[in-house]
Amino acid sequence: MIGKDIEIAQKYLQEGALVGIPTETVYGLAGNALNPEAVAAIFKTKQRPSFDPLIVHCDSIEKVKAYTSEFPEMAEQLAKTFWPGSLTMILPRSEQIHDLVTSGLDTVAVRIPRHAFTLELLSKLDFPVAAPSANPFGFVSPTTAAHVEQHLGHLIPYVLDGGACEVGVESTIVGFPDGVPTVYRKGGISVEDIEAVIGNVVVREHSSSQPTAPGMLKKHYSPGIEMHIVEDIQEALVSFEGQKIATVTLDKSVEDLPEEQQFLLSPSGDLSEAARNLFQTLRTLHEVQPDVILVELVPEKGLGLAINDRLRRAAAK
Ligand code: TXA
Ligand code: MG
Repeated sequence: MIGKDIEIAQKYLQEGALVGIPTETVYGLAGNALNPEAVAAIFKTKQRPSFDPLIVHCDSIEKVKAYTSEFPEMAEQLAKTFWPGSLTMILPRSEQIHDLVTSGLDTVAVRIPRHAFTLELLSKLDFPVAAPSANPFGFVSPTTAAHVEQHLGHLIPYVLDGGACEVGVESTIVGFPDGVPTVYRKGGISVEDIEAVIGNVVVREHSSSQPTAPGMLKKHYSPGIEMHIVEDIQEALVSFEGQKIATVTLDKSVEDLPEEQQFLLSPSGDLSEAARNLFQTLRTLHEVQPDVILVELVPEKGLGLAINDRLRRAAAK
């Protein structure tokens, strides 16, 4: 069921059930992070391999500190600047956090999301919630309650509807291995914005523990149709003559191609709007039944890094 009732979501979570929750990045599949059965149910519901750890969500820095055992100065600065917001930090975990949540790692991923419903929900709970993106394993992350309902609705009792996600791509993940600030996943907060606060960071795009962790898998977000990244879409068209083409660009229209086969992420060239539209576009592309999808990457700056990362993974073979 989809609804806007925070107390219903609260009740289900307190009972150990799973609930779809809105965040500013993507919708999460939430369960009581301190309840091993609820955490196990998250993995089962998503069909997620158990070696891929979950993010723990709280509504205040004080609560985050209860679930971490160290909070370095750089983490402090990032938390003050970006929380609530699209930043996840990997920090040493406290004893309260179960092995199931972290897949046995001694670090835990923590985040304060920026969504009024979910912040209110979290403030009413006496436990944090573990929440991966609310999509079946390997599928595009959901950016509306309807997306969650479509794929997981038959498996969970409630999806809290907080509208379409404001950011549209997942959080940026930052860790501090050996004290070195390291970006593990490009996301809703740009690397430039993070560097403006703590100086240079290393970008190492796989999980600290498991290079094969699904969120980091080369092939992810796949629309299930042959997809190519091309330099210039107009020029590339000739190589696919006779095939039905769909195109994805930031703001470029393509000549001699029906309009409904063209997906412009942001007609005005705005990267924030493009991020918001990205997953919806990857979900609906197949409806025009193309043989091939041609993609032109967006400018490689700011949010464009996260957008291009998702596009490359969607196109990976
Ligand atoms: O925006 C988001 O982060 C969304 C919303 C719901 O908060 N959540 C999300 O979760 O994208 P998920 O599970 O789809 O991606 C979390 C990523 C995974 O790739 C996982 O490998 C990584 O975080 N991760 C979690 N704990 C980790 C740890 N201790 N060390 C390294 N990577 C970790
Ligand atoms: Mg995910």
